[in-house]
Amino acid sequence: MNQEPKVVNIALLHGVNLNMLGQRDPAYYGTLTLVQLEALVVEEAKRLGMLCISFQTNHEGALVEKIQKLRLRSAGMIVNPGAWTHYSYAVRDALELVAGPVVEVHLSDVANRAEEWRRHSVISDVCDLTIAGKGPDGYVEALQWLAQRLIPAG
Ligand code: DQA
Repeated sequence: MNQEPKVVNIALLHGVNLNMLGQRDPAYYGTLTLVQLEALVVEEAKRLGMLCISFQTNHEGALVEKIQKLRLRSAGMIVNPGAWTHYSYAVRDALELVAGPVVEVHLSDVANRAEEWRRHSVISDVCDLTIAGKGPDGYVEALQWLAQRLIPAG
């Protein structure tokens, strides 16, 4: 029987201040705008056989609600919560309820940055993988990792 392949839906979620990419310190965050980064990820996801929706907010509750809404609907997630990474137990607890694999991605190498508070992530323990310090390539790596797990070998 000729069965249509099932669409693998994934989500790209960005938190606080990531709408300012392109204007933030390029030494840490590169030069791409959020729109450009999202386009790159959506395109690469498509190439790998996944349908990626993207979302960014500066409101912690809005991110929590988005995660709650997608927790059973998205096969996988890529999340960069921005500064919430370091202190939002609310975002952490929401991610804990996500059914599929979650990849934490940071553009900068948070574990080795000058500020002590930036070196700790409160979400890592509920994520399946953390990728940091690889710029936009880190998102591509996250997509490849998700594709390996979510797309049945053809
Ligand atoms: C970031 C790192 C965080 O410490 C920072 O607050 C951000 C971006 C990153 O992608 O490197 O906003 O998550």
